[in-house]
Amino acid sequence: MRKIKVGVLGATGMVGRTYIHLLESHPWFEVGYLAASERSAGKKYHEAVEGRWHLKQPIPENARDLVVHNVDDIGSAGKACSFVFSALESEAAMQFEEKYAGAGIPVVSNASAHRFTKDVPMLIPEINPEHIEIIRIQQKNRNWNKGFIAVKPNCSLQCYMTPLFALHKKFKVKKAVIATMQAISGGGHSSFGTIDIEDNIIPFIKGEEEKSEREPLKILGSVSGKEIVHATGPVISAHCNRVPVMDGHMACVSVQFEKKPDKEQVIEAWRNFRAAPQELKLPMAPEKPIIYKVEPDRPQTRYDRDNGKGMAVTVGRLRECNVLDYRFVGLSHNMIRGAAGGGILNAELLKAKRLIS
Ligand SMILES: NC(=O)c1ccc[n+]([C@@H]2O[C@H](COP(=O)([O-])OP(=O)(O)OC[C@H]3O[C@@H](n4cnc5c(N)ncnc54)[C@H](OP(=O)(O)O)[C@@H]3O)[C@@H](O)[C@H]2O)c1
Repeated sequence: MRKIKVGVLGATGMVGRTYIHLLESHPWFEVGYLAASERSAGKKYHEAVEGRWHLKQPIPENARDLVVHNVDDIGSAGKACSFVFSALESEAAMQFEEKYAGAGIPVVSNASAHRFTKDVPMLIPEINPEHIEIIRIQQKNRNWNKGFIAVKPNCSLQCYMTPLFALHKKFKVKKAVIATMQAISGGGHSSFGTIDIEDNIIPFIKGEEEKSEREPLKILGSVSGKEIVHATGPVISAHCNRVPVMDGHMACVSVQFEKKPDKEQVIEAWRNFRAAPQELKLPMAPEKPIIYKVEPDRPQTRYDRDNGKGMAVTVGRLRECNVLDYRFVGLSHNMIRGAAGGGILNAELLKAKRLIS
């Protein structure tokens, strides 16, 4: 099968580098275009990331010598690739994502710039694949021909959203209180060496609690007319903390239901959870999107973040809550499921549904 050429905007950043790694042997997609800021523009990729390629695997041969373009070089992108992943810093995403889409290049984004744009879907394929319906409306609204923008939610959500959804579908979640413990890599390249994280926990991540509380409502919303209408619940209260681990976001969740299930029903809902797009056989989709651990001290970041090749959410420590109904712990890999892997899974869904080719 001929592979589709893709571009990576922000290819030199933390998320961009993970895209380059994950796309190295992807069965459907191959890298054809790289872009970043003027700091990196004109350099070969391996020169642009010198001193900041911290992945265990070497820089892939198919990207090493590609020249990094300035992100404003949209004309070159149009010739070199069919769509782009955007891993741009958020202001640059705000500035350029619409320009790419307007030039006929679909944008599958990790950035927050368009998460609350009413006609832009915010996708987790296991939860709301039907939201891609809005893309035709988005194109019509803006007079765009082939281009569009689709986004994924913030990385902090991914460690609890799918387990919460699996329960919400069956037992209707009313309220959830969530305390996240988020890895350093979630703060992007600039946070390395600049945040005071050794022997420390920082109980503040700018904008993160608001995202953790609001984004689930868009994901659980529905396409209506020209927009995605947000769900009215569950009500979520989030505490977001930066902790001294490299990769992997963990969340302690307390949850209350409209009708409290028994413990076995909760475990069964997680174990039996199979995503709608399973039948599409998307290469990045984990066979089991939720892995339930019975051991009392799991999940643990170092041992469980790579489950399902970094695409599964691992849950455990399910127990009664003295305030709400149940408590549990969720964990996911913020750079894979929460960032580049999640973006690739979204693109696979869009390809399977013939929105990109
Ligand atoms: N880290 C995570 O876990 C995570 C998870 C989900 C979503 N996100 C989102 O993904 C995006 C990238 O995050 P990151 O962690 O990879 O950040 P990062 O390490 O700081 O990388 C930012 C990238 O954007 C480029 N860039 C910065 N300013 C630019 C400008 N003015 N014009 C063009 N390019 C510019 C940088 O290029 P240079 O190298 O040339 O400066 C770099 O490639 C952000 O929007 C972030 O919110 C991150």
